[in-house]
Amino acid sequence: MRVLGVETSCDETGVAVYDSEQGLLAHALYSQVRLHAEYGGVVPELASRDHVRKLLPMVEAALQAAGPGQMGGVAYTAGPGLVGALLVGACFARSLAYAWGVPVAGIHHMEGHLLAPMLETPQPEFPFVALLVSGGHTMLVEVAGVGRYHTLGESVDDAAGEAFDKVAKLLALPYPGGPALAALAERGRSGAFKFPRPMTDRPGLDFSFSGLKTAVLTAMRSAAGDEQTRADLARGFEEAVVETLVIKCERALRETGQRRLVVAGGVGANRRLRTRLTEMTAALGALVFYPRAEFCTDNGAMIAYAGCLRLKSGQPADAPVAARWPLDSLTPPS
Ligand code: KG4
Ligand code: ZN
Repeated sequence: MRVLGVETSCDETGVAVYDSEQGLLAHALYSQVRLHAEYGGVVPELASRDHVRKLLPMVEAALQAAGPGQMGGVAYTAGPGLVGALLVGACFARSLAYAWGVPVAGIHHMEGHLLAPMLETPQPEFPFVALLVSGGHTMLVEVAGVGRYHTLGESVDDAAGEAFDKVAKLLALPYPGGPALAALAERGRSGAFKFPRPMTDRPGLDFSFSGLKTAVLTAMRSAAGDEQTRADLARGFEEAVVETLVIKCERALRETGQRRLVVAGGVGANRRLRTRLTEMTAALGALVFYPRAEFCTDNGAMIAYAGCLRLKSGQPADAPVAARWPLDSLTPPS
């Protein structure tokens, strides 16, 4: 079955064509980063309008790149995300599916992220523990199969990516801050600043990153403002976030007895996080799986893939657009 996937939940327009026999046939991504940069964050109304502008030409190009073949369905991100942006994708996908006379699937954005490593070879086998680390979410999920998700822990305040973005702003780095902060941290000295590893000194798998931002701010006030100090602060912050995530992932693997860890979401592109998780899982005798960097951040391929899995079952798979949508409420496709 061939499925067109459309992702418009935030500030990236993603489209892709996935075929269950032939794999990923086409994918394209347009990032609105430059549009929002002058505001220091995503402006929802501007995001929606830009999705309207970009979707049609991007879908036309993706269909052409995919080549001839019968389209079996259309999948779009139904939530969680910015409602206006989600509605653009939903209206577009439903209209196209109606015109083509094919079924439509409303996909959970985080399900898309946690299935993204399935687009790679080797594919992780079920069951596994997934670490979802994006700008909007930090979650550890036990995944028994498609649609069988049990949240083990999540952030009680800022998501890891949000913390990266906010600390980057403190350090006067351009939006989006995560990749810029990671680049600055490369020039920083390990141990020059030691920040707390929040919520690691007690049992449980929840996260809290907002105090870390305050710790960086406090350290900044009494530190020199030179370039090396900025890099040291970035390094100290990145190490604190990465170590906290690694400690919680190890705990999740031990507590569940799972031996496979899947990492997804924008922060999953972070090099230090990947290195440390690879070391930790090797020491545990576990395996870690990552999507390629371009499928860590928002993309249409993960939505086309999740949509294909759900539409293949032949069950109705549409869903109302929702800003909030608990992952654990999903059910298996058949
Ligand atoms: O999954 P994603 O593209 O969008 C959401 O659904 O949120 O994740 C974007 C987040 C941003 O907060 C961005 O700063 C962060 O991922 N990010 C990174 C890196 N690349 C992206 N954070 C740390 N290191 C990176 N290399
Ligand atoms: Zn995302």
